[in-house]
Amino acid sequence: MASKIHFIENAEAAKAVILSAEFTTYSMADRYRELSDRTKLDFSAAIQLLDHLPVFLDGEKHQKIRKLMAKRISETKDSQFAASQATLLALCTSLFRPGSEIDLVADFCQPLWHSISSVIVPCSETMLELVDAIPALFSPHLSIRERAKINARIAAFLEVHCAHSDDNLLLLCLASLGARPFVGTMGLSIWEALQAHPGAKMSEMAWPSMFSSSSLTFVDRVVSSPSERCPHSLETGDRVRCFTQSRLYSPAENRMALFGFGAHTCLGKSISEKVWKLVVAAFSQIDLRVDCRSIDMSPHNDPFQMPASIKVALI
Ligand code: HEM
Repeated sequence: MASKIHFIENAEAAKAVILSAEFTTYSMADRYRELSDRTKLDFSAAIQLLDHLPVFLDGEKHQKIRKLMAKRISETKDSQFAASQATLLALCTSLFRPGSEIDLVADFCQPLWHSISSVIVPCSETMLELVDAIPALFSPHLSIRERAKINARIAAFLEVHCAHSDDNLLLLCLASLGARPFVGTMGLSIWEALQAHPGAKMSEMAWPSMFSSSSLTFVDRVVSSPSERCPHSLETGDRVRCFTQSRLYSPAENRMALFGFGAHTCLGKSISEKVWKLVVAAFSQIDLRVDCRSIDMSPHNDPFQMPASIKVALI
């Protein structure tokens, strides 16, 4: 019988599930193993990659991969910061001029993210494009054809960059977990702040000290060993969708949960928060008004709520 999915949209209960040893992560690699069995198509490259993504792992394997990723983050943190600072300065100078029309996603958030991802993954342009494509594998709506195309790109990457060790695969995995949360959360938070101050100059706005909105609003867990404390409706193997961001939560609850909890707490938290502070400081120096034109949400980006474009004009 297919396992059920349960939804938890209560800040305290969602946090309790995320921190509980009675729940494990959801194995995305297993979904691709099933897909491979069903379609007889080869998804082995995607499976190899998904088997290295810490959000889908538990226990010793998770700890080992997380530790290696944390080391990479720590070794490159100063360069990530310096690169984002330089890119931000260049973007503010070139984009924020009277009369300019900007897509904040493509023209601002993406280049800012690429300044960080190119420090984490110091390889080719093709590899950076792959970083941005991989999160599409998580969506239940992606066509099998598109999944197969991404699998082929991962296979080519593995052949060229991972013949002798998994080091480059780990870097690819690390950066691909940052791509959509960073770009989406940055874009949505800027849009929300601009919308809250219609007609004001950017230099006069009260910019929030933290991201106010996120492109990642839930994390999934699976019941591994239901105890008496679990609600009776939960059975082993059921999926539980824990909302970490919700309109039903207080601002403090949303802030606390933005980067997750416990063993899987986000490894990109520090750089993301620092870059938000840089962005706010830079925007607070800009003496222009912003006309918010439109936001267009991408329809098939589960589990992310991604703005496809955010159009603004500067006056
Ligand atoms: C504002 C931007 C970001 C947000 C809102 C965000 C949010 C999150 C959340 C909620 C989790 C926990 C997932 C879970 O419990 O299942 C997570 C995990 C993770 N994030 Fe982020 N993230 C952001 C940026 C980044 C960046 C820039 C990177 C990489 C440079 C990154 C790398 C990771 C990694 C590697 C994990 C998995 C940790 C583990 O499972 O041990 N994130 N993120």
